[in-house]
Amino acid sequence: MRNMEIVAHRGASAVCPENTMSAFERSLELGATGIETDVQMTSDGRLVLIHDETLSRTGGAEGWVKDTTYDQLRTRDAGSWFHADFTGERIPSLEELFKLVQGKGTLLNLELKNGIVSYKGMEEKVIQAIRDWNLEKQVVLSSFNHASLVRCKRLAPEIRTALLYMEKLYRPYDYAAKLEASGLHPYKLAVTQEDVAAALAHGIVTYPFTVNDPAEMQAMIDMGVQGIITDVPDVLASLLTVHAR
Ligand code: G3P
Ligand code: MG
Repeated sequence: MRNMEIVAHRGASAVCPENTMSAFERSLELGATGIETDVQMTSDGRLVLIHDETLSRTGGAEGWVKDTTYDQLRTRDAGSWFHADFTGERIPSLEELFKLVQGKGTLLNLELKNGIVSYKGMEEKVIQAIRDWNLEKQVVLSSFNHASLVRCKRLAPEIRTALLYMEKLYRPYDYAAKLEASGLHPYKLAVTQEDVAAALAHGIVTYPFTVNDPAEMQAMIDMGVQGIITDVPDVLASLLTVHAR
């Protein structure tokens, strides 16, 4: 394990439209050691990378991802809402991202967005795709839907899972251990030094989200976290370079 994982939240989402191939590629250029992305499923069962359940904010159209076919979705412009320079950017398939990271040491944090929409068979499809691409060691599956992560663990004990949560939990490391999760991905305000230390003593790593301010990053580093999920991987990379000197 690296000293500190720099996990690009939706790719380099401060400088590129989130969850696009441009954002993922740029994040690696900016020093990210990991990429976080959000997985949803089309009406014909394809796994695609978009944060919202609907297309209206970033998907260049109205309607739900679950009601849109993959071919329809691929005609949409997922870039121009961010900046005209990105016009024509597409909503990526999971496989496109797999192709980018395969053979690299990049950590891939796939967040299953199955808390609002219940995508039937999503866990099986994600796991099959990970196995087809031999990415079992590179991937961490996370979700706010902890029941789904337990299901993933039953289907694929070899693939790591991490619990996403917003508010402080009582002994989150005990809860994670019970669910056989390898990681905690708390909202930044839910992190405590005691929990980070206790989690690590149980072999569980802590990666808070979404930390963009250098002072907040420093506070997380001082609390001993093993990774940070950020929109600005370059900012964290330079902070860590200063540390290393
Ligand atoms: O995985 C961390 C973070 O992405 C969770 O929240 O809404 O940005 O997907 P959200
Ligand atoms: Mg996410």
